[in-house]
Parts: sequence; structure tokens; C-alpha cells
Amino acid sequence: MERLRPVSDVWMWPENRAIPRGELLDRVRDAQGLYCMLTDGIDAELLAAAPRLAAVSQMAVGVDNVDLSACTERGIPVGHTPDVLTETTADTAFGLLIAAARRFREGMEDVLEGRWGEWDPAALLGRDLHGSTLGIVGLGRIGRAVARRAAGFRMRVLYNKRSRDHPAEERLGVEFRSFGALLAESDHVVVLTSLNSGTHGLIDRAALAMMKPTATLVNASRGQVVDTDALVEALSCGWIAAAGLDVTDPEPMPSSHRLVSLPNCLVVPHIGSATVRTRTLMAERAAENLVAALRGKQMPYCANPEVYG
Ligand code: DGY
Repeated sequence: MERLRPVSDVWMWPENRAIPRGELLDRVRDAQGLYCMLTDGIDAELLAAAPRLAAVSQMAVGVDNVDLSACTERGIPVGHTPDVLTETTADTAFGLLIAAARRFREGMEDVLEGRWGEWDPAALLGRDLHGSTLGIVGLGRIGRAVARRAAGFRMRVLYNKRSRDHPAEERLGVEFRSFGALLAESDHVVVLTSLNSGTHGLIDRAALAMMKPTATLVNASRGQVVDTDALVEALSCGWIAAAGLDVTDPEPMPSSHRLVSLPNCLVVPHIGSATVRTRTLMAERAAENLVAALRGKQMPYCANPEVYG
């Protein structure tokens, strides 16, 4: 707000929950700039309701809630917040991996519910991370940051993405695999790909059936990359051993959902980038993008740079 006020009149949705759609459509009617969250659908309907809109700035790196081509067509730059959240989100993904593979949820529940008896040599046996094979689906900034963490655990790292990343292979010692080979060979799979038409439902029944029955699945990208019903089946039928999820489909995931009740599934509520420092940096970066656009300059972090022709 401090950065935006000197360049514009600012109205801010005052509540700590997503702005209702009707209110958003109403409020954008005269707006030239929009500072939004990943919970706001920036689509044709919104653009039609906002004839003066000249800049959209989202406080997130993922912009799957934004119709980028519609914005580009209207000449509207869309800002986002890459880089500043990479390491924090990689920490979360790695934390979920450790917690799910080593069965922290079941251990915590035993303690909370008074089931912690004498030390039992066969209780809550999990799977090792050190010395195991990690598969990373989507070797972008966060994927590479996870690979760096895995090196500290002496893990062998496989990756899959649209095209091979030779510099990353040289720098990080990661090995390319086809999607199927990665699923079959990995002891643990971390999903960090962005959500688009090619990755929607990527981790489906067929993919889960290819994984090892001892494998862990972590999703820190977007919930819709994993087919929720298929994951429930995989976790309850022993196709895979455990899952750690920062994102789900739907979101928020109701506490009554079958997935949440599964003891081998650990779910946290989309907190991948949630540290004081990182959220502050994201807020500042999003403001920086909007201020630049409102001053008629190029956004420093633009998700549709082709808009500048
Ligand atoms: C993003 O930035 O896309 C995350 O999901 C929230 O940090």
C-alpha cells in the first residue's frame, strides 16, 4: 500500500479471505490496475467488466488463474513474483517429503491420542531419503532448488520436463528420464510443474500405478496436477506408500474429505511460500510490478512479456 499510494488512488478488499466474485467485478469497473491473488479468476468476464484495466499484478509466481492470452490480446501486462519464493517453497517441498516418507503424521497422531507406548522396534517404519532416488517432475526454479537439497542427502536425482536441461544436468548432476521411467525408477516423486492444459491431471491412475508401492508422492505445484480420486485410491490400496501435499483439488480441501482422513497422507494448506520474509518480498515484488505499469514502464517481472511486442 505504501508503494502504491503515491502513484494511484487505492481501494483494498479489507478482509482476510478471497474477495467475492461479484464484489471483484464491481470494483474493477473503473480500475486501471489490479493487484490480485491466486484465488481471483482473471478471465474474459473480468476483463469485460474492467474496460479501463491496463495492468494486472499477482502476488504469486503461478498465474494459472489468469487468462494470459486474453490479457495479452487486450495489451494488459500480467505481473508475477518469481525467484523470491523459490528457496522457501523448496524447503516446504523437502519438508513434506521427509515428513511423509518418515510417517510424521501417524507418529504425531499416536502421541496426541495417547497411543505412544513402549519403544517398539517395528513401529512406524518409514522409507529413507538418504541414498534413495528422487524424481522431480518439472525442473524449473523450485525443482532445481529441491535437487540442490537432495544432493545434501546423497540422493540420486532424476527429472522430467518438456525438454532436456543440459546446464542443470551438468551443474546439479540430475538425470533426464521419460515421465514413465521417472515414475517407475523413483523412490520418491516431487511434483513441481506449473499447471496448464498439458499438466492438468498429469498424475492420474495410470501414473500412480507406475510408481513403486513403497514410493512417496509430494505435490507443491497446483492441486489440479494430481487426480484426487486416483490418489485416494492409490494411497488406500497400497499402490504408493505415502503422500505429502501442499496443494489439493479442491482447495480448500474440506476436513471431511476422504483424502484428509488417510493416515498416510499429510496435507498442509498451500503454505509453500508462507514465511514472513518471503511473503513480504512477494508483496513488494507485486507492488513493484504494478507501480512500473502505472507509471507507463515495463513490468520487471512479467508473465506475458510478449505484450510489450
Ligand atoms: C505461487 O506463488 O504460485 C504459490 O502457489 C504461492 O506462493
